[in-house]
Amino acid sequence: MRITRPAGDDHVDIDKVDLFDPGWYADGDPHPVWHWLRVNAPAHRQTLPDGRRFWSVTRHADACRVLRDHETFTSERGTLLCALDRGDPAGGKMMAATDPPRHALLREPLNHALSARALAQRSEMLRSAVRTALDPARDGGVWDLAAAAARLPMAFTGTLMGLPEQDWPDLIRWTWAAIAPDDPDFGTGDPDTTLATSHHALFGYFRDRIRHRDPARDDLVGTLLGIRLDGRELRLDEAVYNCYSLLLGANVTTPHVISASAAAFVADPDAYRRLVDDPGLVDRTVEEALRWSSPANHFMRYAIRDTTVAGRRISAGEAVAVWLGSANRDASVFVDPYRFDVTRSPNRHIAFGYGPHFCVGAPLARIVLRMVFAEMRRVVTNFELAGPVRHLRSNFVAGITRLPVRTSLAGGDGR
Ligand code: HEM
Repeated sequence: MRITRPAGDDHVDIDKVDLFDPGWYADGDPHPVWHWLRVNAPAHRQTLPDGRRFWSVTRHADACRVLRDHETFTSERGTLLCALDRGDPAGGKMMAATDPPRHALLREPLNHALSARALAQRSEMLRSAVRTALDPARDGGVWDLAAAAARLPMAFTGTLMGLPEQDWPDLIRWTWAAIAPDDPDFGTGDPDTTLATSHHALFGYFRDRIRHRDPARDDLVGTLLGIRLDGRELRLDEAVYNCYSLLLGANVTTPHVISASAAAFVADPDAYRRLVDDPGLVDRTVEEALRWSSPANHFMRYAIRDTTVAGRRISAGEAVAVWLGSANRDASVFVDPYRFDVTRSPNRHIAFGYGPHFCVGAPLARIVLRMVFAEMRRVVTNFELAGPVRHLRSNFVAGITRLPVRTSLAGGDGR
């Protein structure tokens, strides 16, 4: 998705805007539209040609309210627009599709296993994954930063989940196809077929892993299998849904934080220079990169009772899409929101969501991203664009799939 700075007075014919269209996020520019919506229609209802309808919420405060208020807005009927009004077979089984209080039973063990304290013991593995991902930078010359970033999450989540390295390329391909079935780079037929094929492959893969797993292994799949729900162990389908969600959560988000911030550094070399000059800015750069990229573009909820958001009446049963990328540009919360500011503080972004479903992988993502920016500033002195950028065709994940860059190296090759 392009990240632009709207003039503020752009003319928007909202009836002609299709917030559902995955192609719009690849070729169009949502920022002027989101800006317009925040000012003029912070709760906006769109009807699709087939009659399905959904609300869009674009302001920070309203986004937090919808995501926090699980008693009014459920996650159990689906959380993604691509499955609007189709129900969710994972409802009540997969953490992300389960409401409190049951949600806590699925979440707590993972929360513990993915805490900063637990991950401190894995820092060497994480650092090595980051160094390997940034290897192409060390050669200087032209390389595809988006492709390198795409390989990184598998190296840390795959390792933490105990998944063999030879399976990683397939798992990367299937997870990207599952979140962007409309993108020709990942398509294996029409979007519905691509989605079904990728789900089939991923669910089949995890069924086999769980069935043939060594129970003595200490990994995140073991953590999931140790969860007790309704006084019993997780059933196979529940365990599979949660493995899927964990892998997807990591694979399709983290790379875009890296590529979107590298693109921002290309556009504003002074921002990169500030980071290079001051190692104390790494933490703030991570938070700004999360706000800036907002890789999870939307999450959806269904109202389970009549309610009001931004002055509009929302009826029980209606779907509400929360646009995180818009909330993270809300000028009432962020000073100069269209500036990539590596010194920004405070930074109350909601790139990891808000409320009970706040990303369980956030501590892991933050540790890895800190390592990425620390390593980047050590190795690379400058980024230049070296070819056309390609944006992901998806209304769910805002991302870049191709970012050819030419990097200049810090003295020596940084090895
Ligand atoms: C920069 C990286 C990441 C971003 C931007 C991100 C974003 C998000 C967001 C916005 C949510 C909230 C979903 C909702 O409200 O319905 C979420 C939940 C979740 N994320 Fe992440 N995520 C990232 C990294 C990860 C990683 C590394 C993992 C796995 C290790 C992960 C696994 C999950 C899971 C399982 C949930 C569901 C949590 C729950 O329902 O309680 N994510 N993520």
